[in-house]
Amino acid sequence: MTGTQIAFTLNGRPLTLPPGTSPTVTLLDWLRGPAALTGTKEGCAEGDCGACTVVLEQPDGARLPVNACLTLLGQLHGRAVRTVEGLRGGDGAAHPIQVAMAESDGTQCGFCTPGIVMSAWAHGRQGGDLHEALAGNLCRCTGYRPIVEVFGALADDSAAPPALAAPGPARFEAPGQVFHLPASLPGLLALRAAHPGAWLLAGGTDLNLRISDHREQPAEVICLLNVPELHALEATAAGLRIGAATPYARLLDAVRAEMRLSALSGLLARLGSRQIRGLGTLGGNLGTASPIGDALPPLVALGAVVTVASARGMREVPVERFLTGYRSNDLAADEVVVSVLLPWPPAGAHLGFEKISKRHDQDIATVGAAMLVRVEGGVTVEARLAFGGVAATVVRASGAEAALLGRPFDAAAVAAAAEALAGDIAPLSDWRGSAAYRLAVAQGLLHRLHLRATRPDLPAEVAEIEEVA
Ligand SMILES: Cc1cc2nc3c(=O)[nH]c(=O)nc-3n(C[C@H](O)[C@H](O)[C@H](O)COP(=O)(O)OP(=O)(O)OC[C@H]3O[C@@H](n4cnc5c(N)ncnc54)[C@H](O)[C@@H]3O)c2cc1C
Ligand code: FES
Ligand code: FES
Repeated sequence: MTGTQIAFTLNGRPLTLPPGTSPTVTLLDWLRGPAALTGTKEGCAEGDCGACTVVLEQPDGARLPVNACLTLLGQLHGRAVRTVEGLRGGDGAAHPIQVAMAESDGTQCGFCTPGIVMSAWAHGRQGGDLHEALAGNLCRCTGYRPIVEVFGALADDSAAPPALAAPGPARFEAPGQVFHLPASLPGLLALRAAHPGAWLLAGGTDLNLRISDHREQPAEVICLLNVPELHALEATAAGLRIGAATPYARLLDAVRAEMRLSALSGLLARLGSRQIRGLGTLGGNLGTASPIGDALPPLVALGAVVTVASARGMREVPVERFLTGYRSNDLAADEVVVSVLLPWPPAGAHLGFEKISKRHDQDIATVGAAMLVRVEGGVTVEARLAFGGVAATVVRASGAEAALLGRPFDAAAVAAAAEALAGDIAPLSDWRGSAAYRLAVAQGLLHRLHLRATRPDLPAEVAEIEEVA
């Protein structure tokens, strides 16, 4: 699909937007404005409440719930969207999920209900953990029990997936705006060289807040969504190669299916919500280079290598060198991140991927940790400890690592490492936690890794402790 007008499928019908439509209008604003489809609600306009949930229907039949408030019209070109209005039967009757929500008292004021119904519709096809499916939808008045019951009783209504043509390159113009949608890596790199000041847009779960929240209007955008080379997800001899624009939802499926990386799945399942994971990418986490990016400590602990490209050529950078400081990275103005090679952890290594936040789901980490400890012949021969939220960028705890190496992985070594950690990290105090709290948490996570490695009989989570009690 090559074009100068934005074209996508809406509720099963192909649609082409008039020339000059701004490609950076959010889907939510367009639905509730020109499209007069007001079933999709606006709560927070920043990806937190799920009232605006719509579903991207994938060519393979998968249903990806996403936040319409964070999705731009230009990002939809060549894709298929379903809103709550599109669940009605041919006779106009309500969808069985809507009937179930009404009959089981799953809706009171009803403001959250369209978003919850869309999450349920996606969950009916995708399955998986029910708690995870609901984590991105906030209901303030009903209480979740009846809603959970509706989710638990869902049957898949397997409608045929929409037939979509592979998208070709496109360029949309509106007054004062150009939105490029390259469809190959060389095309992307040529555009980046010519427009180094343009917004480089992947999922938009970070960048698009500048539009939905701050009402900025970028003059130039280069969108990465249709570049096949950025969507790789390939198990190689060295590790998992992850395309920079692969949504977390696909990455999480791959990690769950791959024994060697399955320890990562618990953390990835807590990155944002299903809606955020439907859009957000690893390239975006590396692009923002935030010290509290959830994916970054695991990349550092596992020794990931970032492949970066420009029209001048390609280069590989170890992730530790890629992250250069507070929200800064080793990326020139004409470069993009193409992929990340995540090495397989050594067999038998003790692994811990942790996120401590005020809420379990849909929250920003106070402290993140990724820890790899390998013991051979009774002594620790490899220790890679990476912490987020405790310094300007994600840091390796080299003092703590040294305290573990060459001795048994026992309580005394862990206590020495915890003490050394105080010299490795420099946490700040803010409303999420004081510096002392963050240090204590990081030290506690080291102890937890050791306990999990040596005392598998002990409950690891509060819920399990309660069950034992
Ligand atoms: C409600 C909500 C919850 C969130 N929860 C979490 C969470 O739990 N954990 C977490 O870590 N993050 C969270 N985030 C932040 C965000 O989802 C992540 O940082 C995500 O990885 C961003 O990816 P993206 O593709 O959406 O990036 P975008 O918003 O598209 O881009 C972000 C930045 O990265 C740059 N960029 C993107 N791709 C590339 C590339 N290939 N090469 C070079 N630069 C690139 C962009 O230019 C931009 O500067 C949350 C965001 C929201 C709105
Ligand atoms: S309006 Fe709250 S998530 Fe979009
Ligand atoms: S029914 Fe009122 S917010 Fe959910």
